[in-house]
Amino acid sequence: MRNPIIVALDVPTAEKALQLAEQLAPVVGAFKIGKELFVSGGPEIVRKIRATGASVFLDLKFHDIPNTVAKAVAAATRLDVQMLTIHCSGGSEMMRAAEKAAQETALQSGRNAPLVLGVTVLTSFDSNGLSEIGAEANVGKQVERLAQLSVRSGIRGLVCSPLEIADLRQLLPKEIQLVTPGIRTGAEKADDQKRTLTPREAMDAGASWLVIGRPIYAAENPRAAAELILKTLE
Ligand code: C5P
Repeated sequence: MRNPIIVALDVPTAEKALQLAEQLAPVVGAFKIGKELFVSGGPEIVRKIRATGASVFLDLKFHDIPNTVAKAVAAATRLDVQMLTIHCSGGSEMMRAAEKAAQETALQSGRNAPLVLGVTVLTSFDSNGLSEIGAEANVGKQVERLAQLSVRSGIRGLVCSPLEIADLRQLLPKEIQLVTPGIRTGAEKADDQKRTLTPREAMDAGASWLVIGRPIYAAENPRAAAELILKTLE
């Protein structure tokens, strides 16, 4: 079985991130580096985490003109990340440019293209927020619209909330990879995640990858926590 656990390294320092990565690399599938860690640790933290042998998901959610996004995706590909994110709301031309840059740069560098993941509607948006920016006010409809647009634009994966997995699986070609945060085992203390599924439930609903942060990195023994989650997926 491919290990579907991606650990979100939402920790303040590169030292802490690297320590976690070294401890967890043998028992998880990848590590997610987000804006805070990348802005503080720079590309060097990506290289150091890749050096543990682990895959890296660079979650910088690119959104810009197609040429600029293509160049950022090319740079991330040269950095040898295995997944990265872009905003679907950047439009079809931007998404096509991102996918093309990933494929072409990978070919030139002799490695596999990273999986470019589209982010549809941020879970911080509600229908008021969507109306304010002039988008379709129904969150579910806007998610579907952007998901379909991204697939038509050649994107091979999406980030989605646990509660969107089942609907998106109905709607999209089966080879589209779905990456989902909002995972809780039930054992951890309550936090800001409101709509969650367990790792098993999310995989059964059709997730391809699970992004898990606090249930692993904030556990007393992160490695044991990851191993326990993996066991529930066997
Ligand atoms: O600690 P936790 O498991 O909640 O971490 C989830 C990770 O996924 C964090 O890095 C968070 O920013 C990210 N994420 C999320 N919900 C979204 C999109 C991303 O929790 N809708």
